[in-house]
Amino acid sequence: MNVAIVFDSKTGTTKGAAEAMAELVQAAGHQCTVTPVQDADPASVSAADAICVGSWCKGLFFFFQHATEATMDFIDSLDTLEGKPAAVFCTYKTAVGGMLPKMAARLRNRGANVTGSFKSRGPAVAEGFGDWIKSLG
Ligand SMILES: Cc1cc2nc3c(=O)[nH]c(=O)nc-3n(C[C@H](O)[C@H](O)[C@H](O)COP(=O)(O)O)c2cc1C
Repeated sequence: MNVAIVFDSKTGTTKGAAEAMAELVQAAGHQCTVTPVQDADPASVSAADAICVGSWCKGLFFFFQHATEATMDFIDSLDTLEGKPAAVFCTYKTAVGGMLPKMAARLRNRGANVTGSFKSRGPAVAEGFGDWIKSLG
């Protein structure tokens, strides 16, 4: 499988998480690209077999949490994903609110089958991500 991980990171935490996730994907025998949302090409990402999009959590720490605009705009720019497996993830400090379901809903709008949702408080791979990789087959 060819897995595309796209992330938005302001201070490096989400980048670190995305890179650690990519290592795990590769260790499972898949190919993986890991690209900042600012550089990601929507057509190439749409062509991957599975897609994973992550953002740092932006909000008022306990309220109004959301993914970055760049992340949501990128999701909206994807081609029709026709049931491809997808996952969303974020890094955060205190609470993520409803940001992950909102990211998932936007990916579903593009036709993705969102089967994973992950959060981590630092640059480590979130619990459960390994199982998501296994679910890709
Ligand atoms: C302006 C701003 C707003 C933030 N809002 C939240 C928030 O609402 N909830 C939360 O848990 N963390 C919040 N954080 C913390 C970041 O989401 C967290 O540190 C994240 O891991 C940073 O990722 P990055 O290093 O990839 O930029 C905020 C950080 C900043 C700079």
